[in-house]
Amino acid sequence: MRKIYSFIAGLLFVSCSTVPQLESSSIDEVISHMTNEEKVKLLVGTGMAGREENTDEAIVGEARGIVPGAGAVTYPIERLGISTMVLGDGPAGLRISPTRENDSATYYCTHFPIGTTLASTWNQELVEQVGECIGNEVLEYGVDVLLAPALNIHRNPLCGRNFEYYSEDPLVSGKIASAYVKGVQSNGVGTSIKHFAANSQETNRKNNNAIISERALREIYLKGFEIAVKEAKPWTVMSSYNYINGVYASENKWLLTDVLRDEWGFDGAVMTDWFGGLDVVAQMDAGNDMIEPGSNKQLRELAAAVDSGKVSMDIIDRNVKRVLELIMKTPRFNGYKYSNKPDLKAHAAVTRQSATEGMVLLKNDKGVLPLAAGIKNVALFGCTSYDFIAGGTGSGDVHHAYVVSLLEGLKNAGYSVDASMEKKYEAYLKAEKARLDSLKQSSTDPMAAYLPVERPGEMLFSLVELQSMVASNDVALITLGRSSGEFADRTQADFNLSEKEKNLIESVCSTFHAAGKKVIIVLNISGVIETQSWKNKPDAILCSWMGGQEGGNSVADILSGKANPSGKLTMTFPIRLQDHLSTANFPVDAKPMVQLGPQSGKHSDEPNVGITRYEEGIYVGYRHFDTHKVPVSYPFGYGLSYTTFSYENMKVVAEGDNYVVTLDVTNSGKVAGKEVVQLYVKAPIGTVKDKPEKELRAFTKTQILEPGQKVTVRLSVSKQDLASFDEESKKWVIEKGDYVFMTGASSQDIRHSVLVSM
Ligand code: BGC
Repeated sequence: MRKIYSFIAGLLFVSCSTVPQLESSSIDEVISHMTNEEKVKLLVGTGMAGREENTDEAIVGEARGIVPGAGAVTYPIERLGISTMVLGDGPAGLRISPTRENDSATYYCTHFPIGTTLASTWNQELVEQVGECIGNEVLEYGVDVLLAPALNIHRNPLCGRNFEYYSEDPLVSGKIASAYVKGVQSNGVGTSIKHFAANSQETNRKNNNAIISERALREIYLKGFEIAVKEAKPWTVMSSYNYINGVYASENKWLLTDVLRDEWGFDGAVMTDWFGGLDVVAQMDAGNDMIEPGSNKQLRELAAAVDSGKVSMDIIDRNVKRVLELIMKTPRFNGYKYSNKPDLKAHAAVTRQSATEGMVLLKNDKGVLPLAAGIKNVALFGCTSYDFIAGGTGSGDVHHAYVVSLLEGLKNAGYSVDASMEKKYEAYLKAEKARLDSLKQSSTDPMAAYLPVERPGEMLFSLVELQSMVASNDVALITLGRSSGEFADRTQADFNLSEKEKNLIESVCSTFHAAGKKVIIVLNISGVIETQSWKNKPDAILCSWMGGQEGGNSVADILSGKANPSGKLTMTFPIRLQDHLSTANFPVDAKPMVQLGPQSGKHSDEPNVGITRYEEGIYVGYRHFDTHKVPVSYPFGYGLSYTTFSYENMKVVAEGDNYVVTLDVTNSGKVAGKEVVQLYVKAPIGTVKDKPEKELRAFTKTQILEPGQKVTVRLSVSKQDLASFDEESKKWVIEKGDYVFMTGASSQDIRHSVLVSM
């Protein structure tokens, strides 16, 4: 069929040699030769297998088959030399089908650490390197635009997709996203920074109306996107599902045109999130150029709107032009011959190192870590130790070839794991997983297939069993696991420890401690959990997050001391969930997958499901905890190292429009390590009456410093970056007065401050 199509197109080309080609003619000329039908088809994606399909199956069917498992393809128009464009998820690595029909080759991608782990490195160079590797897989597997990075703000610990996102702070989100985008796009493929904006919950995500003040939007929810757009020039932006102040993000002209393009200078294309929004005309008008993945209904609606003049031809042509400009940048358009053979081995080494660097050492009493040379035999507790979680679920998941568990990681590092425990856990996990799988399969809930599989509860041991484990092992390790993903938010039960988990910690700690042996807890988690009630029990706590496919090796690198931990928290670990102001306005324990609103014909004003009021304003995370003096379990920016760092000689100098802060950082301990240095500023009250106690304005990570080695770090912040958004004048205001510049090792470990008058 395609051959016939090409033949006809060829004939047309010969008989009508004036038909311009995208490669050799101006875009405007190409557009002037496009039919309305072609324009509409270019703007509405070609649908998704298994959903309502678009027309011209012969063309789109073939396009869709190019990279099986990718997220969407655009409509190719061969007579004008307009190639298709393949869009594929996602943040922790490319997500495509690992196997193909009648093909013995495999197409696995590297599962890199989740967004939260990457951000916890605070290392922009390293994240850029990870981006380079991901982008290389995108290129070599024939995908044109990666649907990542995801940089929504961690407004509340319960958001099911926080694992894909970076931080409760917009500067960290924006800088890490910029590094990622630069890395991916250095391969000549595109990114789509998502979900623009304020997509802070999964409950009723397609129809939730987020009511947010303009100040909170500007300072918190849009800021990271602004930084990424200006610094890294992503090829595309993905609008979010939710409404913002009553208007769907994808239909929001203020957001997608006035702010994104006119103010920030974005010159790429905007696409919807998958099946997001409702009114194609409003989307086109707002500057949402691409409707993804597209459906016949949307095609019909847009075609009718073009015919009736409900959408102007100027708008259609403007959007078509943006899509064509995007297509022209893609490797497919430029004839790149992809290999389907990226260097997965080299990328495995990068993922291992990046996961290690994103792990955060929360506690290390008496230097129990790294494990002393004499420690060899490990009593390994916790189901997750044997079934390590590489990443979260949904479109942020990656089809990896393998995952290194903590069990394997420890063995690879030369430890010997209690064999009887290994046997017991494996038998238990096998039986439990089979039971949970069959429960899921027999579930009558139509959404069950989309939700994360429930994880087996912890096994408990008798005192006699524990005592025999104490006798035959040098140390105990317990892993606690949490997974989450698209479509559902986490629950309070997921945030808190279960009774079994508490019992396990209690019983292992008391028996091992009674024999003078240490207990270490590893947190293989997708998001923040409760730590205050039990953190005094173990000797060390390592928050490993989800480390991708090499996770077990990365943890072992830290436990053994092969690597010195240097990650720091990009969000606060509160004492109680309710300590976050946003918890009062979050769908806590709401039914997952509630789909209300115009898309279902059932609109709801139900608090936090239909409408979520961001009453906390800018007081998200540490901005709230530090300003309102609410104690926390672990503060934003916190993380231990096997060494210590001293900070001296802080200076602030005005240089043009910037303030440059210099600070001497010395490794004052005994082993080599890297330090994350944070610059916070407290701005004075003026036109804007309400200011946080401190806001992160710059950060840097040192190279490895040898013991005794000193480096002078330089942190630069522009005057404009110190502004607050004034709701009344709708302007950023730099107040006159005294600014406190603070350098610290965390938001609550401020080492020096300097007053700067403006
Ligand atoms: C997600 C996006 C993703 C898209 C394509 C949506 O459900 O929200 O993040 O890129 O699907 O898979």
